[in-house]
Amino acid sequence: MSVATASTAAPAKVSRLSVFWDSQVGKKFVSAVTGVLLFVFVVGHILGNLQAFQGAAKFNAYAQFLQNTKGLIWTTRIVMLGALILHATAGIQLYLRARAARPQPYRVPLANPATVSSKTMIWTGLLTLAFIVYHLLDLTLGAALVHSGFVHGDAYLNLVNTFRSTGKVLFYGVSVIGLGLHLSHGLYSLWQSLGFRHPLWTPSITKAAVLIGVVLAIAYLSIPAGVVAGLIRL
Ligand code: HEM
Repeated sequence: MSVATASTAAPAKVSRLSVFWDSQVGKKFVSAVTGVLLFVFVVGHILGNLQAFQGAAKFNAYAQFLQNTKGLIWTTRIVMLGALILHATAGIQLYLRARAARPQPYRVPLANPATVSSKTMIWTGLLTLAFIVYHLLDLTLGAALVHSGFVHGDAYLNLVNTFRSTGKVLFYGVSVIGLGLHLSHGLYSLWQSLGFRHPLWTPSITKAAVLIGVVLAIAYLSIPAGVVAGLIRL
């Protein structure tokens, strides 16, 4: 009868998935794919939110439709939560690895210096994460610390009440500008992570990414601005 000893034991199996996840390329790939999913949500969400300019009935009918379509809303929630966790984990780990590999910043500027948005990816990402947590407490659960009369089922009322607070207008404003910066760089860099780098396309992709980030930030800013200006009112 043979007895397995430490020296004869088979090496622990490392799954292909964990090798992939541990690699730089793997994390960038996961970050890119989950980033696309989150981007689709961000576009869909602003298209829905812009209906606030059409008044309470239209906006609440849209919000009610989403709440009643349980299959759609729960599938979206689960997929988005998974994507957000993977995206944030990959991003934080890539940042920490890069920092550990080069603790001293370059003294001489690089030939192709990073843009403001690429240098601030970790901070705009963390700000967006904090914003999402606060935003869910604020407008979905009605459990934010500063609240002025949350009513379940009246999304329009809650939205208008939220932007009666100057502090919230500022926090939402800064957060969506951060999101715009994050997307401006993210939408450009995901093409590289997915392996579609080409000198012919890169300048156009860079411009398109910045444009999309700016348009989305302005569109999101228009909601609190609309409340402050009295265009969205009770
Ligand atoms: C000015 C900016 C924004 C406004 C006015 C706004 C408005 C709203 C409102 C009214 C709801 C609740 C809808 C309901 O109860 O049916 C909501 C939910 C939500 N928002 Fe926003 N939003 C904004 C920005 C964002 C951004 C930038 C993100 C993500 C990056 C985001 C992510 C979400 C999520 C995840 C939910 C929860 C959806 C669910 O119920 O599953 N929002 N938002």
